[in-house]
Amino acid sequence: MELLTLIIEALWFILPAYVANSAPVDVSQISFLKKYGKPIDGGRMLWGNRVLGDGKTWRGLIAGLIAGTLIGYIQTLLQSTFQPTYPSLPQMTIPLALMLSAGALFGDMAASFLKRRLKMQPGDPAPILDQLDFIIGAFAFAWTYTAATTNQWTLQALENHLTQAQFWIVIIITPFTHMIGNAVAYLWKLKKKPW
Ligand code: CTP
Ligand code: MG
Repeated sequence: MELLTLIIEALWFILPAYVANSAPVDVSQISFLKKYGKPIDGGRMLWGNRVLGDGKTWRGLIAGLIAGTLIGYIQTLLQSTFQPTYPSLPQMTIPLALMLSAGALFGDMAASFLKRRLKMQPGDPAPILDQLDFIIGAFAFAWTYTAATTNQWTLQALENHLTQAQFWIVIIITPFTHMIGNAVAYLWKLKKKPW
């Protein structure tokens, strides 16, 4: 089916961002990594609240960067196998995977910064923001990277990788995959709140 192909190709592109966003939660309960769980903001305050809060740690940031880039590397090894079935499969590269991962983690931190300014505690739900923060960050970083490497500073720069329709597919389906992922993490007791 045509639509399914579009979805699979779009997910192929955004996969490093998904992995970078979930890795921090996955490693949060590993006991020998506990000592690296220092908050990125170092406990600092801004306007009577934490800058980012305890939910954004160095351990999470590093784990996300490594896991997202690693999945991107695995994708580079596999994509020729899938090419016959999906002729317009977006080509993953290691720098692109690194940018998607860094963007995802940055977007998540930007959302935490915003939530703290609004006096919301870590774990308090911020619908839409919680689900899309990392995707917006990933797209922004990936766009900057492709614009810089192709010297094409237009909104269309990302179309080397995916069409406008596929961009919207990612935006629309991410809240659903995010909810399913968080529900699983909650059931596995990786997360204290199911969002
Ligand atoms: N996490 C982390 N480091 C990061 C991102 C996430 O350690 N850079 C871990 C934390 O254990 C965090 C969990 O992943 O609690 C879930 O992340 P998220 O839902 O984004 O954080 P919240 O705790 O809900 O905090 P916030 O309100 O700031 O988003
Ligand atoms: Mg969050």
